[in-house]
Amino acid sequence: MIADLAVDLPGRATQLQAIDERLSYVQSFQKLNGRIRVDVGPRGVGKTSLLRAYERAAQDRGFVTVFITAGDRPFLETVSAEFTALSHRWQDSARAQIHAAVAHLTIGIGPVSIKTATGPAAAAVPRRGAGRELQTLIRAATEQARRNDAVGLAVFVDEIQSADPDGLRALGYAWQNMQADDADLPATLFAAGLSHSQDVITSAVSFAERFEYDHLRNLNDGAAITALVGPAGRRGVAWSPDAAAAALTFAQNYPYFVQLIGNETWKAAGFPAPGDTLTAGHVEAAAAAFTTTQNSFFRARWAKATEAETQMLAAMAGLGDTDVRRRDIAAALGTRTESISDARRSLMDKGLIEEAGYGRLSFTAPGFAAYIREEILGVDRDELPAAEPAPAGDRQRITELLAATQAPTPPASRAERPPRVVPPVIYRDRGRGLDGGGLER
Ligand SMILES: Nc1ncnc2c1ncn2[C@@H]1O[C@H](COP(=O)(O)OP(=O)(O)OP(=O)(O)O)[C@@H](O)[C@H]1O
Ligand SMILES: [Mg+2]
Repeated sequence: MIADLAVDLPGRATQLQAIDERLSYVQSFQKLNGRIRVDVGPRGVGKTSLLRAYERAAQDRGFVTVFITAGDRPFLETVSAEFTALSHRWQDSARAQIHAAVAHLTIGIGPVSIKTATGPAAAAVPRRGAGRELQTLIRAATEQARRNDAVGLAVFVDEIQSADPDGLRALGYAWQNMQADDADLPATLFAAGLSHSQDVITSAVSFAERFEYDHLRNLNDGAAITALVGPAGRRGVAWSPDAAAAALTFAQNYPYFVQLIGNETWKAAGFPAPGDTLTAGHVEAAAAAFTTTQNSFFRARWAKATEAETQMLAAMAGLGDTDVRRRDIAAALGTRTESISDARRSLMDKGLIEEAGYGRLSFTAPGFAAYIREEILGVDRDELPAAEPAPAGDRQRITELLAATQAPTPPASRAERPPRVVPPVIYRDRGRGLDGGGLER
């Protein structure tokens, strides 16, 4: 099962393995997973895809799952809504128990718009801390999951950096209390968020040691090749080494761009049939469409930046794509390093830049700096610094990686595999399309 998920999500086998071990522990020993793992990384690196894969792994093992995306409204309100939705899968008594726990939680956080089947008892309950109420809700949901023949409860929180401090505090308290009171509860929680999630959580939560962090990065060459050629290979279509090398020069191992160039090449080749090969010519024909989408992706990011942020982005882009020194940015803006700290912080909050070692910053999406220089600042191509060397640009290496990825021949291996349900567009993630909302935020 995990092997199947790893095929769908190249380069993330280590993460999937780590999560499966935790799920296996919770399932086998019927114990609480006492720490909350948070996968952190920049926009478009594949956090949501990974969290959804964790969710599928949990469901495959027989867990009941709740997927929460933090952000639009107070975190505990979203939690209440998702657990209320969960309870609708169950019969009356289970549903009533969850509704009561949700009602207590909503009393703990003040008036909210969640409608539940609360009895008069709920109103009479003395107000307790939201952390305690959240603990009670998770306990109730886990017990009902067990009663309904599930092995336990797995909760997923995406965009955790957008959760408000009260919500994060309640989560930290709940997990801390559960570790003491509910160690025999088969429950687990996994989260994902932007790179600065740790700062956000640590400043909100006293029990920060309940959380642990794993950093997601761009794909390595092998994973990028697998992500590029895997979907075509499963349909009996090969990539020539030149085509793969050219595509990866566009994508720079950034997962979203790998999907994008793969998709555009597939279209440029006229939706090939089994036995066909994608060539460098097809990639060339896909370049314009790729660049158009890439530019609108960058334009959306630029448009959401404030005046101070755009100035900082422009100064940074003038200095390079990666590892730009903060003091050089400040100098370019004619100010002191401390003066750019607000813009730096908000650009990190938006996932556009990230820390790159002490005192240095990098753009998170490859090509953004070049876009700013060319499209915004109008710098001539000749004046630009030399292009970054393409990852996996070496033809020999690509050929070797391709040979490893594309063998054995797809039709033979397909015959041995059960038929897979495939989404209509081959490079499309199960959860959402290439132009999905998350990337444009
Ligand atoms: N391991 C992977 N290999 C190839 N493509 C991937 C991988 N993970 C994710 N993708 C693709 O990259 C794109 C972005 O993925 P996803 O939405 O999961 O990123 P994200 O980190 O959640 O982005 P955001 O921060 O904007 O929410 C999607 O098109 C997805 O299919
Ligand atoms: Mg996401």
